[in-house]
Amino acid sequence: MINIVGLNKHQLKGFTRSEGFKKFYFAPISELREISHANNPRATDQDILLYLAYDNDELAGYVGILPDDVTLATGEKIHFGWLSTLFVSEKFRGMQVAPQLLFEVEKNYDKNLIVTEFTTSAQRLYRKIGMFQDLTVKKAVRYYFKSNLAELLPFKKEIFENNKPLLKKLDNLINTFIPYLSSGKNHLYKISKSIDPTLEKFISKQKKNPIGRSSAEFRWILDFPWISREKEQPAYLFSSFAKDYEMFWVSVYQNQEIVATMFCSVRNSHLKVLYYFGNVNLIPDLLPKIIRKYKVKMMTIYDDQLNSSINKNHSPKALYKRPLERKYMIHKDFKEKLGKDFDFKFTDGDGDFSFT
Ligand SMILES: CC(C)(COP(=O)(O)OP(=O)(O)OC[C@H]1O[C@@H](n2cnc3c(N)ncnc32)[C@H](O)[C@@H]1OP(=O)(O)O)[C@@H](O)C(=O)NCCC(=O)NCCS
Repeated sequence: MINIVGLNKHQLKGFTRSEGFKKFYFAPISELREISHANNPRATDQDILLYLAYDNDELAGYVGILPDDVTLATGEKIHFGWLSTLFVSEKFRGMQVAPQLLFEVEKNYDKNLIVTEFTTSAQRLYRKIGMFQDLTVKKAVRYYFKSNLAELLPFKKEIFENNKPLLKKLDNLINTFIPYLSSGKNHLYKISKSIDPTLEKFISKQKKNPIGRSSAEFRWILDFPWISREKEQPAYLFSSFAKDYEMFWVSVYQNQEIVATMFCSVRNSHLKVLYYFGNVNLIPDLLPKIIRKYKVKMMTIYDDQLNSSINKNHSPKALYKRPLERKYMIHKDFKEKLGKDFDFKFTDGDGDFSFT
């Protein structure tokens, strides 16, 4: 008999340092995620942020939720949750633990749920239990600025997988001859790890998507990351550690005013533009500078407008590009509640993508 226990932000506080937590065979959350969740400005006192499924005293699985708000054209705000981590231990697979967790989540969030970045296995589960429907697919472009055969080829053939160390050596050799291409135009720009009053004013004037983050929420993302550069969460399936990880804003100035800004993350030489505001056509010229400064090998952008501006401006120039997709699913009742005319215009960083 499975028993589900939910933790809100107060109950979650100190959970990863508790005696009970230390006894688990696998961690249902990392310490940094616990702290970050507890500080989410959009999480209410009632929101359950982590559901634990127990078989007697034994942890069988868990699901994490990231609460958020969506604003309708009428100005009405609807509170909802992103499914963020779902896991059932091998021993309990195929025993309906995941559906029981999801039925509990459904109750607490009044069926207002969205999910993205799921595994194919989770996608089949979501379809099977009939709770979620396909919502939308966001197209992305992944740009490569350095040779990365060791990562790209092994997916395709066993012969490459077996020769990964050799491919790494070949990559290093090739990369000594490949300069970072394209220099970018000379705009006055500033990189910052905090939001000063000028940037705050600029962000507040911009048109927002339905999720529409404010400076207070961007500060939360900057101040409470999920990825640690120091310590990996032991026995945790989801990301908790990266040797090299940074989040920062880059703002372009003209006549001492900000005219464009972007919020980026770089993780192990992989650049993501999570949000941008202002004149999109100034971003392509800025990217080569960031790519050189942070020794970026790969960049992923899910925004059609920014990708077409990069294409039009031929900046930054990539060695190789490939298309990617991000699928979204939504609770069928939530979709109905939002109405058929609702414009699901997600930004790259929405959901838990800003944190991973
Ligand atoms: C995906 C996962 C959570 C499913 O958990 P589970 O408790 O074993 O789920 P169950 O097998 O009891 O699933 C219930 C139903 O969904 C179906 N289902 C579950 N996974 C499925 C899959 N990969 N393919 C097809 N059907 C699947 C089951 O057949 C079952 O159907 P039934 O009710 O007709 O028997 C679990 O496999 C897991 O932890 N995987 C690794 C982590 C992961 O991928 N997490 C998702 C991150 S986004």
